[in-house]
Amino acid sequence: EDKELVIAIDGPAGAGKSTVAKRVADTLSYIYIDTGAMYRALTLKALKQGLNLADEDEVAAMAKETEVKFKKVNEKEKVILDGVDVTDKIRTNKVSNNVSLVAKIKAVRERLVKLQREMAAQGGVVMDGRDIGTVVLPDADLKVFLNATVEERTMRRYEDLKESGEEVDFEKLKEEIIRRDEIDKNREVSPLKKAEDANEVDTTNLSISEVVEEILNLCQEV
Ligand code: CDP
Ligand code: CDP
Repeated sequence: EDKELVIAIDGPAGAGKSTVAKRVADTLSYIYIDTGAMYRALTLKALKQGLNLADEDEVAAMAKETEVKFKKVNEKEKVILDGVDVTDKIRTNKVSNNVSLVAKIKAVRERLVKLQREMAAQGGVVMDGRDIGTVVLPDADLKVFLNATVEERTMRRYEDLKESGEEVDFEKLKEEIIRRDEIDKNREVSPLKKAEDANEVDTTNLSISEVVEEILNLCQEV
């Protein structure tokens, strides 16, 4: 019988992490954990409370009092913030444009990383984010770093937002994505970077199925 693997997927915004991670998890009957959704949920709450995101102590204190969970409802994974379903609300561009400020706070990361490790403890898991292969699950059986050109990543995000009814300017969105990547790559605590032992996949010209296939092949080699 095949061993249940722990798979870590990292990369910048719009590289295809969540779409691909979800498909891989479904194919293998593993659980999928979207760590970005956890940072987004805390950001939604901070914005709602009108917190000053530059005040790290204030945001950290809020995070300490907050519960973020995942719950499967009718086969769909829901994000639950303090008991309330916020699955759709965390995907707005407003949350995207502020999440990196919350995610750079050390105490916030410590709290979420602890939860993430607990969620992965039983194996048979695909987890995606920015620091999964480097910090959260350094002993993962397979590490993948997904990438794509910023043009392609912006186009993907542009289409996603349009579909959810949010019209944004392409060039402005591109600048916002570049800015978010910069904050994620340059922060002091667990910055976005490829783990030394990660397999890098450039998804710019690949379909979702092709990326999924590539990852399933890598699983076979493990
Ligand atoms: O879907 P998208 O790639 O736009 O972002 P996400 O995966 O939902 O993550 C949103 C933000 O959360 C990132 O830009 C990071 O600032 C932060 N994040 C992080 O710092 N560490 C993680 N493991 C996951 C997300
Ligand atoms: O999680 P991350 O921000 O890395 O990306 P995502 O939200 O999974 O993917 C962004 C969009 O790109 C989704 O609408 C995917 O369907 C699409 N995508 C694609 O067109 N081609 C790929 N190879 C991967 C994703």
